[in-house]
Amino acid sequence: MAENRARVKNVEDSIRDTDEPGHQLKRHLSGFDLAVFGVGVIIGTGIFVLTGEVARTTTGPAVALSFVIAGVVCGLAALCYAEFASTVPVAGSAYTFSYATLGEFVAWIIGWDLVLELALGAATVSVGWSGYLNQLLGDLGIPLPTSIAGETATVNIPAIVIAVVMTGVLILGIKFSSRVTSVIVAIKVAIVLLVIVVGFFYVKAENYSPFVPPAEPAEAGSGWSAPLIQTLFGFAPSNFGVGGILAGAAIVFFAFIGFDIVATAAEETKDPKKDLPRGIIGSLAVCTLLYVAVSLVVVGMQRYTELSTEAPLADAFRSVGLPFLSGAISVGALAGLTSVVMILMLGQSRVLFAMSRDHLLPPGLGAVHPKHGTPYKITVITGVVVALLAGFVPLSTLAELVNIGTLFAFVLVSIAVIVLRRTRPDLPRSFRVPFVPVLPVVSALACLYLMLNLPGETWLRFAVWMVIGVLVYAVYSRHHSRLAAGGSLDPATAGERESARDRAPD
Ligand code: ALA
Repeated sequence: MAENRARVKNVEDSIRDTDEPGHQLKRHLSGFDLAVFGVGVIIGTGIFVLTGEVARTTTGPAVALSFVIAGVVCGLAALCYAEFASTVPVAGSAYTFSYATLGEFVAWIIGWDLVLELALGAATVSVGWSGYLNQLLGDLGIPLPTSIAGETATVNIPAIVIAVVMTGVLILGIKFSSRVTSVIVAIKVAIVLLVIVVGFFYVKAENYSPFVPPAEPAEAGSGWSAPLIQTLFGFAPSNFGVGGILAGAAIVFFAFIGFDIVATAAEETKDPKKDLPRGIIGSLAVCTLLYVAVSLVVVGMQRYTELSTEAPLADAFRSVGLPFLSGAISVGALAGLTSVVMILMLGQSRVLFAMSRDHLLPPGLGAVHPKHGTPYKITVITGVVVALLAGFVPLSTLAELVNIGTLFAFVLVSIAVIVLRRTRPDLPRSFRVPFVPVLPVVSALACLYLMLNLPGETWLRFAVWMVIGVLVYAVYSRHHSRLAAGGSLDPATAGERESARDRAPD
């Protein structure tokens, strides 16, 4: 299917590629496993760390509204992801979807962009993990020196260790990873429920007043997009006020990142057409409810001006005289961040796997381990990059870069749903987005709007990263692409793949 200028990869080819000998992943996961995976990656730094910072500096007690807005925007995008994942159930998520609709160049751009979400996200959360570990060790009286742990470390040893250990878990196999995740997710959800239920009894009404503190100009402004938002909507991003709630939504968006990664496990799912929509939408819905409840409880327990910016949940319990629960929350946060790091790395390795199978990256990288059935070479590369970033780069300010990269992918996936409905109306879709094209258009615009609320420096870094991506495509990938080479069938495996075609799901 290299005939058109956009080099669109046929959807049937994408599905058939998943049966290619030597590149098959094992189909282990059910809808429930997927939802557990989703919750495992969604609940993390966003709720455990960002809630405090955003409430304190950007929204006040109204941070719960920021969570609602970000949750609704993600819900719209989740519907688009669910339709795509049920139509094109192959590894690679947004990358694969766009290859089938918007063409190779856009697919490459998304694949490149997803590195911001996945590898950079994993590194960011690894640094957060290190901070929580050190806090816990501090509570036990054995803190690590700040030169080797926490965000200001010269070499962040715990962050490197967690990235390396999670790489090992991923190489040992998806079922093993899923079991580890189930245990961790259970602990994490239990801790979040504990915060909600126990914290509820310590809420003081006066802490909710004022619920939306009056707007103040944002310290650093919001770069080039602030005047645009002012012109279009009548208020600029600010600290507090309505502008603060929206700017806060663009930051707490980080807390929802991960539901889209469920779609990257498509090839490892038993019944992708049913299980993927359930897994994606189910995990997002559960997390949104938990976030709104947790944020309302935390800002009700402690005045927003006094919330901790590093461990707000634990600190709120300390502030009401429950230090033992504060320690338990730290343990839960540590467990929670562990699964986030692992699943972000899993998503990254699967996207790179799909790209190498299409020869946009060297094909040798996509080899699957003969015993464990996992793409081990790419997993090792992902692990090394994440460990280096986490160990040597202070990443806290880069969470916004993760957000902009993810939102950009959501914009493209929303548009791609409309394109695929027009170009391939015949494809079976076990899940269909309602009100097409209105809903996907609203989804794309809503994501774009949150992007506009992010600071100018974030846009600049994002632009630089994407320009590098375009250059790599022009110099390497464009020329090595399997589609450019005249189609997706390798002569050596054509016969086996012909029979795979017969088995391809309809
Ligand atoms: N949603 C994930 C977190 O909050 C990335 O850590």
